[in-house]
Amino acid sequence: MKFFIDTANLDEIKKAASFGFLDGVTTNPSLMAKEGLSRQDDHIKAICALTPGPVSAEVLATETEAMIKEGRHLASLAPNVAVKLPLTMEGLAATGVLAGDGIRVNLTLVFSPLQALLAAKAGAAFVSPFVGRLDDVGHDGLELVEEIITIYGNYNFGTEIIVASIRSPQHVLRSAILGADIATIPYKVIQQLAGHPLTDRGVADFLADHAKVADK
Ligand code: G3P
Repeated sequence: MKFFIDTANLDEIKKAASFGFLDGVTTNPSLMAKEGLSRQDDHIKAICALTPGPVSAEVLATETEAMIKEGRHLASLAPNVAVKLPLTMEGLAATGVLAGDGIRVNLTLVFSPLQALLAAKAGAAFVSPFVGRLDDVGHDGLELVEEIITIYGNYNFGTEIIVASIRSPQHVLRSAILGADIATIPYKVIQQLAGHPLTDRGVADFLADHAKVADK
């Protein structure tokens, strides 16, 4: 299972990379805005320099031709850019063209298994089901992931599933049990994955016991 970080914050990406298991990065316009950025070219280049893995950069255009133009521009910024497009009819049409250019496309804002089926048929390299936002409206987001895994397995689609909109370690755990290809995880949740109160207590106990005999 690959771990991406879901952020546009350079410090968070550097810290995640230092843990040794950063396989890629996903950004979106809201995450860019959080960094105070409207124009993103230099920032995307800076992120791409921090990881050899795919870095999803999202288009702002909503019409097919404009998406293709913007997607080609984003892909020219660095070899590891994956162009992120919304799963709309326009996004699907743009996906076919960009994939034909050899550009990896990540189809995002996916909330149904049929949208994911269309993403694979369009030639997307990645599909991003948003589990947290589905949970927010009373659905089980991971059920969607399970359905996509079944459909892709039925037809041997090569599109990789990026579980997105992750809010908790449970989302990561259930994604791993289901066999999702990738989880894109906010930095806060990455920290929660490693932490356990019994680990902290165990370290403190070991050090305390060692201190009792250290000078003997
Ligand atoms: O990459 C986009 C996705 O992960 C958004 O998450 O928390 O805004 O639903 P969230």
